[in-house]
Amino acid sequence: VLCWFYVFPVYRLPRDKDIVEEVLRQGDVWHKNQTGIDWYRKLLTDCCDPRRMFAVTKENSPMGKVLWYDGEFYHSHTVNNETYPLFVQDNPLHLPLKKCAVVGNSGILRHSKCGKDIDQADFIMRCNLPPLSKEYVEDVGTRTHLVTANPSIIEKRFQNLLWSRKAFVDSMKVYGSSYIYMPAFSMKPGTDPSLRAYYALADTSSNLTMLFANPEFLATVGKFWKARGVHAKRLSTGLFLVSLALGLCEEVTAYGFWPFSVDLDEQPVSHHYYDNILPYKWFHAMPEEFVQLWHLHKSGTLRMRVGHCP
Ligand code: CTP
Repeated sequence: VLCWFYVFPVYRLPRDKDIVEEVLRQGDVWHKNQTGIDWYRKLLTDCCDPRRMFAVTKENSPMGKVLWYDGEFYHSHTVNNETYPLFVQDNPLHLPLKKCAVVGNSGILRHSKCGKDIDQADFIMRCNLPPLSKEYVEDVGTRTHLVTANPSIIEKRFQNLLWSRKAFVDSMKVYGSSYIYMPAFSMKPGTDPSLRAYYALADTSSNLTMLFANPEFLATVGKFWKARGVHAKRLSTGLFLVSLALGLCEEVTAYGFWPFSVDLDEQPVSHHYYDNILPYKWFHAMPEEFVQLWHLHKSGTLRMRVGHCP
């Protein structure tokens, strides 16, 4: 008789301390592995087709198309006269992208001096409208090509854009002429704030281009990682972006992914490079995600920067 644990092997996440030791053992050694890069791009293309599907476009979401919300059950949006005109025609990125930097928001970036390194990439992706003010430039850089914005940020920071839109529009100037990537069709309450954000930018002739994340893409990427042991209510924004980058870029470096409370010198590290507000505990599985990213680092498929930049 097969014991249940042969069928469902018990997987225990290594302790923070073990992860720190493992990262220290590896040191700065990293060798690019073209076969690994090609293989992962193929896996992601087969499951999730990032080139065609990462954003909602007129091409993949024509009038009448039903978009199923990926963050909740049984809700959908049928593309109509109001929403269709807001979609870009087709994938607007010039592919393949060469060197991509994906920047998470971990406190590990503080004093990392990675700003120059990040700014040298050809395409720079950031999460959740992060601060790029002077005090952080040396550590996180200044350039951005794509930045995500959760609708919850619109609600919390900008009064849901129901009052003045000026603070929002002004604060977006720091992202230059990048793409704003919003999961407008992930959770029902997020749709209206996302559409308001679209109009706030469009009405002020902003240089930014709104891209709505395609819920079908987010759902397939979620399944992809679930099959690889990431069990959480939802993937973190950072892992969605790394997945996108692995599908679109020739080379990927990830910065600011370190969901642990001590750094490599065993000194305390804040959750974000700009504050220490902790996430809601059971929503994401960032340590599990880190272990996956670290596997990819060790196999030469992407590069993780977790210490100081040279
Ligand atoms: N991150 C990390 N370690 C941290 C903080 C963040 O690895 N200590 C990564 C995660 O992948 C996260 C991304 O950086 O998605 C952006 O961080 P943050 O803005 O804090 O994301 P959250 O608000 O927690 O949530 P979400 O991922 O849903 O956007």
